[in-house]
This record gives sequence, structure tokens and C-alpha cells, in this order.
Amino acid sequence: MDIAVIGSNMVDLITYMERMPEEGETLEAPEFEMGCGGKGANQAIAAGRLGSDVLMVTKVGNDLFGQNTIENFKNNGIRTEAVEVGTRTSGVAPIFVDPHAKNRILIIQGANNELRPESLEQHRPAIKEVKLIILQLEIPLETVYAAIDMGVEMGIPVLLNPAPANPELDIEYVKKCTYFAPNESELGILTGLPVSSLAEIKAAAATLVDKGVNNMIVTMGDKGVLWMDGQNELVIEGKKVDAIDTTGAGDSFIGCFAHYLTKGESIEYSLGKANLYAAQAVQKRGTQSSYPTKQEFTAY
Ligand code: RIB
Repeated sequence: MDIAVIGSNMVDLITYMERMPEEGETLEAPEFEMGCGGKGANQAIAAGRLGSDVLMVTKVGNDLFGQNTIENFKNNGIRTEAVEVGTRTSGVAPIFVDPHAKNRILIIQGANNELRPESLEQHRPAIKEVKLIILQLEIPLETVYAAIDMGVEMGIPVLLNPAPANPELDIEYVKKCTYFAPNESELGILTGLPVSSLAEIKAAAATLVDKGVNNMIVTMGDKGVLWMDGQNELVIEGKKVDAIDTTGAGDSFIGCFAHYLTKGESIEYSLGKANLYAAQAVQKRGTQSSYPTKQEFTAY
């Protein structure tokens, strides 16, 4: 097995709109799409579409959405033996995409909130087989910490994508991870520093590296990606494309990066590939529905 994604799944309810309604206003939006999402599931699907053998550890809701999410994992070749059905409804994410392809997302965690450290213990034998553990923050923080400790104990590198940003995230756990991958706005929230230019982003990232954070990877949307550790600093510029929906682009980046990394490629190479993969994904609508397969990506 290549990768264990320990994290969330959601049902994405995506509204494409001209503008946000004002208070008290009812506004017609031109289009709507529903699909499978959730940062954890998205990252698993991206890696799976590229050919990785992925174990998904998650809790789906006790409803039809939950069953659909399990089917979706199976259809994409993701291992579902560690997908459990919770007692609550499925997580859902109302998403609003504007004409500039930018999004605003609300999340209701639902069953994701029931993914507890005990669930991880049950799946310990399977998790032990992977080369990389990926985590995000749409599940309880105590579960994220338990997963980090499990990775350290098993000698498996951990990639933490701190999304959505949580100012309570304990830096001591972040330091135990091999890769820490916020986007620029998450970096700003976590450090309390300005991140409106590349120089500011580098300065904010450097404060975390100075505190002992390993492999800082800051995704910067169409501006590309920054990688920093104690010795190296690299900026890979974004590919200029006509984006129509950036929802889940960060997740596609993480999934692709993890895919190449666990195939034995270098960090630089894997970041370059992930940058291109996300650039391809933003040219299609939807979240997982925009993620290219291996063949589509190769052609691109
Ligand atoms: O990163 C995009 C994802 O964030 C969406 O799929 C939505 O479900 C939320 O989790």
C-alpha cells in the first residue's frame, strides 16, 4: 500500500453564482452541482486516479450520502476497509463559486466528527503497511494528534495539510510531521503574520521553520508553491491557465504530491508535478470531478 488518508469526506453542494446575495435578498444563481468532496476524500481520490494504492480512514454518515461516498471510493479504486459508518448525517459542504473561479466554503462536519482515536487503533494493522500518512483538519484535533503519534511510532512519514486553519493546532505536533502543507491564508492564520506578497509568505514560513517545522510547503494558488526546510528554498511558479473553478485544487495538489513522493520521486519533482496537476484541475468544474486520471494528466 502507498498512502493512508486519515480524514474527512463531505457532500459538496456547489452553487455557481454571479455574486453573493445581500442581507435579506433572494438571488437567483445560474447553476448548481452536487458531488463527492471533503478534503481527505479529495486527496485520496487524486492520488488514486494517478495510480496510488490508497487506504481511506474516515466516517461516512448514516444516510444515502454515506453509501454513495463508499461507492465513489470503490469506483475510484480506493480501499474502503477502514471506512466506517457513523451515527450522524454525512458531512456536507455548501460551496459558492464566483465568476472569477474563487470559492467560499462552509462545512458541516457531521459524521466526520465521530472519527476518534479509537477508530484509528482498529485499523492499525492496515495503516502500518503504508509509506505515507496524510492528514487534514476536518476531523477532531485529538484524532489528528493520535494519527501523528501513530505515524511517528511506526516510522511512517506524516504529511499534515492544516485545512481548514485551526489556530489551536499545537506546534509540537506539527514538528513531528515530515511535511507541513498549508495554503497561504492558512499560513497567515497560523502565524498571525501578513501573507500578501511572496516576501511576506517566505517570512511567515521561515518563522515556522525556525521553530522546528520540517518541509514547509506553502501552496499559493496561481502563484505556485514555496518549499522551505532548514537548507533549501524553492519557489515553483504557477502555470497560467484559464481557471473556471478552484474548489479542491489544493487537495488535488496534495494527492498528486503524495503520489509522486511515494513512488520514490524527489520533493522538487513531486511539487512540480502537483503544481501542474492542480493547474489542470482548475480548468474543470467541481471538486473530485475535476481531477484528471493518469492518462489525462500525462496527455496534459
Ligand atoms: O478543499 C475543498 C473541500 O473543502 C471541498 O470538497 C469541501 O467538501 C471542503 O471539505
